[in-house]
Amino acid sequence: MPTAVRSHAKINLGLYIGAPRPDGFHALTTVYQTLEMYDVVTVTARPAAATALRLTSNDSRVPTDSRNTAWKMVALALDELGITAEVEIAIDKRLPVQGGLGAGSANAVAALVGLESELGIAQNSGASSPELGTWDSWSSRRLQIAAQVGSDVPLFLIGGTILGLDRGQEVYPLPDLEPVWCVVAMPETGVSTPRAFADWDALCAAEGLTQQASADKLKELSRAYASAFAGAIPEGRQGAGSSGVLPEGEDLAGPHESALVRTGISSWIQNDFERVVFPQHPSLAEIKRLLWASDTPEAALHASLSGSGSALFGLYRTCGDAEAACERLRPAGIRSHLTRTLPRSAYWREMLLQEGH
Ligand code: C5P
Repeated sequence: MPTAVRSHAKINLGLYIGAPRPDGFHALTTVYQTLEMYDVVTVTARPAAATALRLTSNDSRVPTDSRNTAWKMVALALDELGITAEVEIAIDKRLPVQGGLGAGSANAVAALVGLESELGIAQNSGASSPELGTWDSWSSRRLQIAAQVGSDVPLFLIGGTILGLDRGQEVYPLPDLEPVWCVVAMPETGVSTPRAFADWDALCAAEGLTQQASADKLKELSRAYASAFAGAIPEGRQGAGSSGVLPEGEDLAGPHESALVRTGISSWIQNDFERVVFPQHPSLAEIKRLLWASDTPEAALHASLSGSGSALFGLYRTCGDAEAACERLRPAGIRSHLTRTLPRSAYWREMLLQEGH
């Protein structure tokens, strides 16, 4: 029986970019946050004499060959495990294919989780095998494989609230923020990530940002995140309770101040990509303004471009405030999606939709 896996989206709660490095990448300091919204990735796998992969999708824009991140992830994992298998991957795109939400990267991790389930490789199986070694050693090898597939793939092997460093592939779990309502705006505008990085490089050159100054800035920002989160989640104040989930429809900030405000991060986080993407696409800056609605009772706790865009998001205290944001976007013809942030425990508990084995 096939294994169906939820493949959740992410946003960035602040994204700071360094000067271009000699290897062509950029050092980053960011906090990733997973969302409830998801695609579904279904995997069928059985050991075979030779490896054969097949990938299908309901969305014609999804590549169905080795260019697909899910394909790459499964091929690398089988190689690493020394297993040959026939594998079918079906990607059911429920979310529009949209930059900035990490959808393709999440699909890669969902495909790996599906493959592991189909091959009987599971954290709680307690088993170690010649291919796998112990679960702990496999768990760190799969983080390495994920980093080979893409810079924002490893975060989906952690889930919840995550500090991202280096190229964004070096990931550390942070204390989870209790869930808040989130509106994701999905403009028609496409943003090219390579172009955004190239524009960033030009800005760094114009401002004379040196490697050393940029490394110092990023280090200082990771310390600021770490210290904000260190005191952020006092015992017994997890608004979502130990399960990380509130009853359907409840206003998530509840009687408590939102953790976003409590950590203090909502007062200073920003996404450096906005500095190069907004001048290119002024309509995106206007969408951020609509999401934010500052100085109104329904104002967002935070609003920003996600990654290099073009998706933007706003975070809200109440479901009503989030719905009001969707209403503000509608007359402008901007599609939006109402969702919530997803803590780590719920991310893993709800990941398997249907277990094959
Ligand atoms: O790692 P990934 O394949 O997602 O990166 C795609 C491209 O984005 C890279 O080739 C690089 O040009 C750019 N990138 C970057 N710095 C990062 C992440 C990505 O310059 N931290």
